[in-house]
Amino acid sequence: MAKHRLIYQIYPSAIGDLRDIAAKIPLIAAKIQPDYIWLSPIFESPWIDGGYDVSDYCKIDRRFGTMNDFRHLVAVAKKYKIGILLDLVINHTSIDHTWFKKSELHDSWYKDYYVWLEKPLNWKSFFGGPAFDYSALRDKYYLHLYDRAQPDLNFKNPRVIKEFKNIIDFWKKEGIAGFRVDSANILAENNFRMGRIPGLPGFFSYYQTKDTVAILEKLLANKGLFTIAEPVGGELYSKRKFHELTNKAFDASFNVGTLDVADSLFSIKDRVYPVNYRRWFKKLSKWAPEPAFSMAIESHDAPRAPSRFDVNPRVLAMLQFLLPSYNPCIYQGQELGTLNADLSMNINDYPGVQSRQVYRRLRREGKTKRQAMSVVRRTSRDNARQPIDWGEYILQHRHHDSVLNFYSEIIQLWRSDPVIKDGSLKVVRIKKNGVFDFYRKLGKKKYFVHLDFSGKTHSYLKDDHGDIVIIVK
Ligand code: GLC
Repeated sequence: MAKHRLIYQIYPSAIGDLRDIAAKIPLIAAKIQPDYIWLSPIFESPWIDGGYDVSDYCKIDRRFGTMNDFRHLVAVAKKYKIGILLDLVINHTSIDHTWFKKSELHDSWYKDYYVWLEKPLNWKSFFGGPAFDYSALRDKYYLHLYDRAQPDLNFKNPRVIKEFKNIIDFWKKEGIAGFRVDSANILAENNFRMGRIPGLPGFFSYYQTKDTVAILEKLLANKGLFTIAEPVGGELYSKRKFHELTNKAFDASFNVGTLDVADSLFSIKDRVYPVNYRRWFKKLSKWAPEPAFSMAIESHDAPRAPSRFDVNPRVLAMLQFLLPSYNPCIYQGQELGTLNADLSMNINDYPGVQSRQVYRRLRREGKTKRQAMSVVRRTSRDNARQPIDWGEYILQHRHHDSVLNFYSEIIQLWRSDPVIKDGSLKVVRIKKNGVFDFYRKLGKKKYFVHLDFSGKTHSYLKDDHGDIVIIVK
């Protein structure tokens, strides 16, 4: 029987420093009781991409406290039977990392730590714009699949692999339970040719190459750590690729494409796409039965789900926990039904690098300031990175019909009911207005689930006697 593990993601700056996070663990544990807490990066960083630009992997960023504060957090979590997962940002570092500074200066040890080319290729970065930038110091071009402040490491260099081996050992000694691995499947490029595919030229030169899988296997497998991958590639991500990664290096994996309901190949945030329920529910039904799949409805990379879908958050909880769900991941505040923030119409108020890039792109395309900002406001990742309202948390804790208590009950069902845990999935009906009906079946027992994202009918779970177990009115 496959293992069931509940992950809870924290984007640390939305809570405070490590002491603040430790202080909130009892509250989170009381209702959610996750097996793991995944902390988005807490390492030293100039914070160009919200911590996903690391300048020292073995140092806690000053904004979060000290190593002692980290040890305290691990100890508190352990008391509540929760393992801490760190976010291993392995594909790139910050431009401020000493490795990059030395590499730029052609230091004999570090010169090949990054990908340097004499001439740039036409590859595009995930945040938009070219993926190669010129360094005057080195008089060469370096690869950055994300922002120019996030140079890509060269995993063809065994020294780089050794650095990460040491980093993993360092944190393992600090008692962590494992890692979420950022952009896990784009580490090693297999050629440096001009890309011919429109949209993201170059993609197939680095998309889950054999080398990448072998490196991750060597670094992560059989270490006694829980490992969960964030693969890049959304729609292009096949079951074969998924199994390749999870059979070899990971216990679980997201498929970022399942968070994406837009009619586009990648989650590009320069348009407000209409929700395509048919496509989304089909995708989820395909991936949900996979024992290594991590079902996530929200993350730090997407706006809040109840705002995106304009739906009662309880219906989203039903989708996440009543479909087969072996490694569900709750994003902080999701369990309160948090909505998008009331973000400003001034781009200078946005901390996220992606929002600013989208804004610039839209302006270049001729959109007015107002038009560009109305898109950014809706699609920005900053919507999900706002401070948690703890007063609201406590209030919902007390009120038995709150969203938080709904999550708590559905999680209990998910943990204890054999049909919900291990039953097969049979999809009955998927409609474009957001109706999703399915059966879960184990032996002779059967449940029927009716979800309605349009809110026109009640969503419910019925047992084989026709009795309603859960209903959202
Ligand atoms: C991942 C992270 C995202 C970050 C990017 C670059 O996709 O989830 O927040 O910007 O990697 O590190």
